[in-house]
Amino acid sequence: MSKSDKMPRGAAERGSGAGSDPSETVEAMPHDLTGQPRAGSGRRAFLGGVALGAAALGAARRARAADRTEIGFASAKFFGKETVAQVVEMYNSSQGRVHVSYDELPPPSDSTAVHQLLVQQLARRNGSPDVFTQDVIWIAEFAGAGWALALDDAFGAEVRKDYFPGVGVACTWGGKLTALPWFIDSGMLYYRTDLLGGAKVPETWDELVKIAQATQKSGGARFGFLWQGKQAEVLVCDLVSFITGNGGAILGPDGKTVLLDEEKTVAAVEFMRDTIAGTKISPQDVLSWDEEPSRRPFTGGQAAFLRNWSYVYTIAQDPKVSSVVGKVGVAPLPHFAGGQSSACLGGYQYGVNASTKKREAALDFVHWMSSPATQLHFATELGLAPTRAAVFDEPALAKSQPFMQTLKPVFVGATPRPVTPKYAQVTLVLQSAVSRALAEGNVKQALSGAKERIATIVGS
Ligand code: GLC
Repeated sequence: MSKSDKMPRGAAERGSGAGSDPSETVEAMPHDLTGQPRAGSGRRAFLGGVALGAAALGAARRARAADRTEIGFASAKFFGKETVAQVVEMYNSSQGRVHVSYDELPPPSDSTAVHQLLVQQLARRNGSPDVFTQDVIWIAEFAGAGWALALDDAFGAEVRKDYFPGVGVACTWGGKLTALPWFIDSGMLYYRTDLLGGAKVPETWDELVKIAQATQKSGGARFGFLWQGKQAEVLVCDLVSFITGNGGAILGPDGKTVLLDEEKTVAAVEFMRDTIAGTKISPQDVLSWDEEPSRRPFTGGQAAFLRNWSYVYTIAQDPKVSSVVGKVGVAPLPHFAGGQSSACLGGYQYGVNASTKKREAALDFVHWMSSPATQLHFATELGLAPTRAAVFDEPALAKSQPFMQTLKPVFVGATPRPVTPKYAQVTLVLQSAVSRALAEGNVKQALSGAKERIATIVGS
């Protein structure tokens, strides 16, 4: 990690630019997670910033709270050993220029609700919230509506090159950077190392089915494989990895041709249904489970395999809530014969409200939130994988989240869901068609119906 990458730059270093509130004054002092002025270089300085306590500095600085620029920040709720609220407080304690009020939205698994709340606020164009986080699937919509400030001037090419290129592309719409990377999520396979019975970690779905059934039969675990079949956004995430793991796709490369009734796609969805109705490696309950309900039986020791996001690892290693500490491995999701493993790209990114009246303060905050030190903190404390390439190589990450480094290709090579400003409509069609197909079994018919509806939405 080069010296210039280590700590956020102060606001004044970045210049102000049109649209900022002239009355807004933001003291320029580069700072790290502790509020220490930027000093020193090398890994020690970088990591030392994370370890020092912020309380004493915070108390002194809170005394000056009245002089601060107040901004609002809305984000879905994430948790691990810490919460987003705690990280926001670290920012507040780290400096005396800006104070952030955090509005905690529902968790990301409640995607439709989070989306609606953000749309309602942003559509008012009154500058509130000044900063928000957005699921990677909404970037096109929010940028297309003119709600997200273009960040190209504030975060130039020399900053952007530090992020994984795929996330950079996902944060760009209409040639403008309208989101700043926060974390990458990617679907992966959690497995019980003690239940493999000498078999290698499954690379194909056939292999997984065999091990899962053998484990259920021997009484090693009640459930073979847990995933998320609830009529919700996560179902589309699971769908993408099954379909693309069989060489299929939802949309063609032109972004308009809908490929949902192709043979490979239909076969992938039939496999999903079969896990419940045929091979019975998954309980009927997965049809009403999103992330957490599917995670709990796994960390409770009742399942051989689980598809989920990276946040699960930290929980699985916590003896207070997990009965499988030290017995969990993480691997790329299996693929179908002749296909390739494919993870669905997830993750949230920062956005600055195009109508903010506190532009400099908002930029200062997102700069800090996306800095190397804060990204490392989010990774070690909340299990959220960094979008900065150099942070992925930090020894502290290897220590707390070893799977992230071994599965780096899974994160950086994840497959996006359809990229369109109309994604919010597309996903509702997919969720309802696939959930009906899973429950009733008329897979081809359900997918053909969805194909017609999505073609109308994306305009082919
Ligand atoms: C995770 C992903 C997000 C996805 C959501 C679905 O939070 O990061 O992209 O939409 O799960 O539940």
